[in-house]
Amino acid sequence: MSTEKNKTTKKSEKIYERAIKVLTGGVSRNTIFRKPHPFYVSTANGSYITDIDGCQRLDFANNMASLIHGHSHPKIVEAVTKQLKRGSAFAMGSEIEVSFAELLNNRTRAFENIRFMNSGTEAVMTMIKTARVYTGKHKIAKAEGSYHGTYDYAEISQNSDPTNWGDINNPNPVPVVEETPDGILNDMVIFPYNDTERTLALLNQNADQIACVLIDLVPHRVGLIPAKKEYIEAIYKWTRKNNAVLAFDEVVTYRVNYSGAQENYNVDPDLTALGKIIGGGFPIGALAGKAEIMQVLDPRETNIKHPHSGTFSANPISITAGYTAMSLFDKQAVLNLNKLTKKAIEQIEEAINLAEIPACVTGAGSMFRVHLNKNKPRTYREAYQGKEVKVIINELLDYLFLKENILMINTCACMFSTNLDQTHVDRLSEALLNGFRIIKPKLENTL
Ligand SMILES: Cc1ncc(COP(=O)(O)O)c(C=O)c1O
Repeated sequence: MSTEKNKTTKKSEKIYERAIKVLTGGVSRNTIFRKPHPFYVSTANGSYITDIDGCQRLDFANNMASLIHGHSHPKIVEAVTKQLKRGSAFAMGSEIEVSFAELLNNRTRAFENIRFMNSGTEAVMTMIKTARVYTGKHKIAKAEGSYHGTYDYAEISQNSDPTNWGDINNPNPVPVVEETPDGILNDMVIFPYNDTERTLALLNQNADQIACVLIDLVPHRVGLIPAKKEYIEAIYKWTRKNNAVLAFDEVVTYRVNYSGAQENYNVDPDLTALGKIIGGGFPIGALAGKAEIMQVLDPRETNIKHPHSGTFSANPISITAGYTAMSLFDKQAVLNLNKLTKKAIEQIEEAINLAEIPACVTGAGSMFRVHLNKNKPRTYREAYQGKEVKVIINELLDYLFLKENILMINTCACMFSTNLDQTHVDRLSEALLNGFRIIKPKLENTL
């Protein structure tokens, strides 16, 4: 592991020089971009990533919450290697796809049927289209600030800001990409998350047109704030009364409990979009839910209402990795991981107190996010970070990455994995304490 003295980034710099000539901005996903250049990985194992210049970092990002057992888990490597030798993708089914569907359907009460695909974006897209076909309606209701991937409808208002978000009683549908057609904006109903009264009022105004209410139970970009039970129950009741589909996005939150974040609520969704951890480190997405609704995808129907395919859907590599990962992530593993995460949150809260900075931690299960707010934000608008705060957060994250050799998600969040232990938690909380002390003067000048 490189020390501070001999730390060099020369090889990464050189690769980036080549990268900018062939990849737009030098990257294939904006999330990994850093100034002055991204860092390139040599190897990743367990809780650590070693970059091409030999610096080893402790990883709390876990590829944006997708690696529930960290990097290169030996059992996953073994299972995938075996499958690779038997073929990686074919225009026929595989038994492991059926076994994995059985495993997931047995795991979560609301899953009767399932379909595999290649990403969370695709799962949300298929969920929205399925809801439309099933209800015969086309509007989509979603929470302001929530991220659901990059499908045109799902991405609306994911990064609304004070200049464009409008009246809280009727938030604007804000496009992410210029020239998003008006038709898409007009088909969105944007509601303020966790605000029952306003959400129901907005749903009522569009009752005869809403196909589904799309909701993440602990939306990361909204602030990683768990949805209130009474809020979800009120939305559930509304969907029953108004022939709308209750559509949960559990692409990230499926890790929260053995059966997903939905286990915390008394009501079941009609459909659930999955992704990330269920791929065991490989690309995946899935749509699960009521058989009666999923029937719109059924090729046995004479009139297939929503034909669904995908060249790599249910490819045996992702499925084998996912099956192995989710088998290992059993009830005890979920409890152990959540317990360790709770300990980490307590230690970070202690660090916040020691550093005497206005900060707090939100989260659920094995995920948490540090906010530079004295009080825990309750809504997207409360959690929203202005430019000045973002600069300080980036400074904290850069300090952690460059000086403490710790990788966190760029919202100042951690997504834990089962390979972590108390020593890693101690390292993280000590590093954060150092970081909090460094940003403190700037924070005092800004807030
Ligand atoms: C809640 C949520 N839904 C959907 C997606 C999209 O998943 P993917 O990146 O696999 O397309 C993400 C990705 O971060 C997500 O956080």
